[in-house]
Amino acid sequence: MHAPTGSVDAGAGLRRPAIDFRDASVRFGDFTAMGPVNLTVERGEFLVIVGPSGCGKSTLLNLVAGTLQPFTGETIFNGAPVEGLNPAVGYITQKNYCLPWLTVEGNVRLPLEFRRFPKAQVASLAASALERVGLRGFEKAYPRQLSGGMLQRVMIARTLVYEPDIYLMDEPFGSLDALLRTKMHDEILHLWKDTDATFVFVTHDLAEAVTLADRVVVMSGRPGQVKLTLDIDLPRPRDVVDIQSNPRFGGYIKTLWEALDLN
Ligand SMILES: Nc1ncnc2c1ncn2[C@@H]1O[C@H](COP(=O)(O)OP(=O)(O)OP(=O)(O)O)[C@@H](O)[C@H]1O
Ligand SMILES: [Mg+2]
Repeated sequence: MHAPTGSVDAGAGLRRPAIDFRDASVRFGDFTAMGPVNLTVERGEFLVIVGPSGCGKSTLLNLVAGTLQPFTGETIFNGAPVEGLNPAVGYITQKNYCLPWLTVEGNVRLPLEFRRFPKAQVASLAASALERVGLRGFEKAYPRQLSGGMLQRVMIARTLVYEPDIYLMDEPFGSLDALLRTKMHDEILHLWKDTDATFVFVTHDLAEAVTLADRVVVMSGRPGQVKLTLDIDLPRPRDVVDIQSNPRFGGYIKTLWEALDLN
């Protein structure tokens, strides 16, 4: 990442996993919301998490972001426990947090301004992030003038602009129609290919999970624990439409569906 703070030692750390949940559980009062979870996420991996509503998927992401602390165990990030907000994380939630009074460009510049990047660098990084998500020409538009997919792309640009080590994505495309989702999948696959970053992506959509993932984790009901991890051995680079006609695609969905056991 090119952030001036929060960067991680490059040489020694290369073989360390990106994230290591060790017996991590979370409580709210007397109520165990999640865990214990034991799970290792490798660097550069695209990990997708599925599981029943309320099992603790967002809670798991919050541990990595440092917005929550575990009740038991720990979350190791790049070799050290997460304590406080984790600056190496780019977090995209299903909610639209674009600031309505700022332009598209203003929204994308924000994380760089928070991090006190030099002005000239802010302008060029914001321009290149908007280019990458196909929003060139919309720099001066306001969020209310954009479609749902374009807003979602602003959120992605606002995250990739500071090149996080990890992208946490919590049902980012849940509100989009099927065509736009397919387009966003294509964009995410491109983004993944062009970076060394690690992705942890939460969804309820099994086809989305298999399309994007190197590995899918199925969580059990609350308090969610890891029930199954499934390697998705489908070729990369992936084409969103082609991948779904791969003969193995349907088998993966069936395995995940059976593991979810929602009946
Ligand atoms: N801040 C909080 N205070 C109290 N309880 C909470 C809090 N955040 C989450 N919970 C509870 O913890 C459990 C796990 O929540 P979480 O949001 O992680 O579930 P989830 O798997 O992301 O669900 P969904 O698929 O519906 O988004 C839920 O029962 C939820 O009500
Ligand atoms: Mg959630």
